[in-house]
Amino acid sequence: MKNIKEAPFLQEITRLTSNMYRLGWDERNGGNVSYLVSEEELKDYIDFSVIRTLPLNFHAPELAGKIYLVTGTGCYFKNMELFPETNLGLIRITEDGDNAELLWGYEDGGKPTSELPSHLMGHIERLKIDPEQRIVIHCHPTNTIAMTLTEDLDEKEFSKKLWRANTECIVVFPEGVGVLPWQLCGTIQIGIDTSKKMKDYRTVIWANHGIFGTGKTVDEAFGLIETVEKTAQVFMIARPNGILNTITDAQLKELTDAFGVTDQVKEGWLG
Ligand code: 13P
Ligand code: ZN
Repeated sequence: MKNIKEAPFLQEITRLTSNMYRLGWDERNGGNVSYLVSEEELKDYIDFSVIRTLPLNFHAPELAGKIYLVTGTGCYFKNMELFPETNLGLIRITEDGDNAELLWGYEDGGKPTSELPSHLMGHIERLKIDPEQRIVIHCHPTNTIAMTLTEDLDEKEFSKKLWRANTECIVVFPEGVGVLPWQLCGTIQIGIDTSKKMKDYRTVIWANHGIFGTGKTVDEAFGLIETVEKTAQVFMIARPNGILNTITDAQLKELTDAFGVTDQVKEGWLG
């Protein structure tokens, strides 16, 4: 067997978590990641024997047999690169969809992130829309959280504030962003509510908490988060001075036409 620490999929995720830590989006144990890994990618690194079985406490038969690399609950993003074997785990969803079988990792007796319901339910919803969906990232980006303290949480309003502030936004997320008012995190309920939003949005913001980005690649999911966060930073810097110049609906329409994403904008959101 090869050393799993050298596996490309594992290095991709630990590079991601280190990167997010350095961006200041994952203080302490803040943030979590889940990443679909194929048996083909894994076969040289693990023998697929089950180390422990962990109850999911919710039902995910749609993901039966799928294997996810998942950050551990209470684990610090800054430590993932050096000690992946304690801070990450590979879990396989059982055929009945009720349990997760640990195939590698969580070596100090740990278990998956407390946000596993949001991650797995999110994968289920996004897989219905995009069969290549592989990753869900949750983190705590500073300016995005700040914006949920000062702005109306209505999704159209919030999305349009981002679109109007910064040219790239409507091109990167023409469907807008989902926004969930504050609720208790780490629960099955927040998983249900977040995944409902993911039917319509690849990006979901949790007020006074953080953000979720989803996609088929790390770059896609991370790119959504960094575009929202960069724009929230611009918005929050400009806000105290009074905002004079924003991109108009007609200009937003010019952008969606030029970049071929007009059909992804929700009915009635532009003018
Ligand atoms: P976990 O340590 O359980 O992943 O929780 C971190 C977090 O960000 C909760 O929303
Ligand atoms: Zn969080």
